[in-house]
Amino acid sequence: MRNNSLVAKTLAAVLFALMQCGIVSAQKWDNLSQTPQMGWSTWNKFQGNINEDIIKGIADALVETGLRDAGYTYLNIDDCWHGTRDENGFIQVDAKKFPNGMKALADYVHSKGLKLGIYSDCGTQTCAGMPGSLGHEYQDALQYARWEIDYLKHDWCNTENVNPIGAYSLMSNALRAAGRPIFLSMCEWGDNKPWKWAREIGNSWRIGPDIWCSFDSTKVFPTFVQYSVMDCIHKNDTLRAYARPGHWNDPDMLEVGNGMTVNEDRAHFTMWCMMASPLILGNDLRNMSKETKEILMNKALIAIDQDTLGVQGLHFCTEEGLDFWFKPLAGGDWAFAILNPTKADVTYALNWQRFNLTDEEVSGKSTSFDKVVYDVNNLWTYKKEGKTSTKDKTDRKVTVPSHDVVVYRLVKRDK
Ligand code: GLA
Repeated sequence: MRNNSLVAKTLAAVLFALMQCGIVSAQKWDNLSQTPQMGWSTWNKFQGNINEDIIKGIADALVETGLRDAGYTYLNIDDCWHGTRDENGFIQVDAKKFPNGMKALADYVHSKGLKLGIYSDCGTQTCAGMPGSLGHEYQDALQYARWEIDYLKHDWCNTENVNPIGAYSLMSNALRAAGRPIFLSMCEWGDNKPWKWAREIGNSWRIGPDIWCSFDSTKVFPTFVQYSVMDCIHKNDTLRAYARPGHWNDPDMLEVGNGMTVNEDRAHFTMWCMMASPLILGNDLRNMSKETKEILMNKALIAIDQDTLGVQGLHFCTEEGLDFWFKPLAGGDWAFAILNPTKADVTYALNWQRFNLTDEEVSGKSTSFDKVVYDVNNLWTYKKEGKTSTKDKTDRKVTVPSHDVVVYRLVKRDK
């Protein structure tokens, strides 16, 4: 008896030690991102002009619009929430912007069935010049856990002589030691190919520079660029092998509702879903058009993004100026999108036999259009458009408007 209890005690002690090192509990953090994260962030719309009222207003809007129930549950505060560090080095909030403090705000957000995200940086200062986490990682993680934060976006400004793998591992370990499951969104802009090393460290990693609200023009500054929607897609196109449940490529937050045309917004949203990208909204949810809301609430497309197979879509070919994308889904269905990045509408004669493909690189799944019949469901018109044909013939003519998409869920028959 005594021996048994000694063994049990020893095992418990070993388990505790392993958990402290993050070895046993890694699963807990992977579980935060079995599908790509969904939510909203302050940055694209408000940059540093944020405060408690805006965050509460967005929390209310997430609930009232139905966006929370559609899956958008993270409410993320980006740069510029910070005050100074106290005499012991613990970070404080800007009391003018957040007079009731971060814990009270977290309580409010949690009471709405949402989760609260925060932002920091691996360097001495954030990109907007606020205090960074360098040298304070364990203290910051502890403070976030005390505030009951659920998500950390960790940026990469002001990191001269900082090793990226070391810096992100340090913050990851600090979060784990603090004990609260906090989603870690790494924002290193793809400078050091994080897709090759970040999977063991956090839940998602940015693949490139910041997005800006443009469909296809890159914004060039003297020392950096901002990516258009098409730039993000081109960069992400090469990285699909690195994404999987638990760990996602992040082509940056959405600009839907911030000034592109409805066609462009629809294409932007669709392609983020096709690429199993994080869906972090960036528009003012308190005041959005019917069209914007319809795009963000497209449940069939959200289901493509959140599909449990967790495969990032494949850009199979480009023909007649159109990009053809396929994403295998759990249960044998496929999502199929035709993206028109050109300046004119294009009508394409679709022959399914052109698209017999096997996704050798990631999932091993085959479309097998010569053998399998799929129902064709249009995800923007919400209409059923018959079925695919196993014959080698033109099946239908599809017109894809300029800067827009046509996207189908191909539902396998006789599953
Ligand atoms: C960097 C990030 C952006 C945003 C800003 C905040 O540019 O890439 O997404 O967080 O910093 O300053």
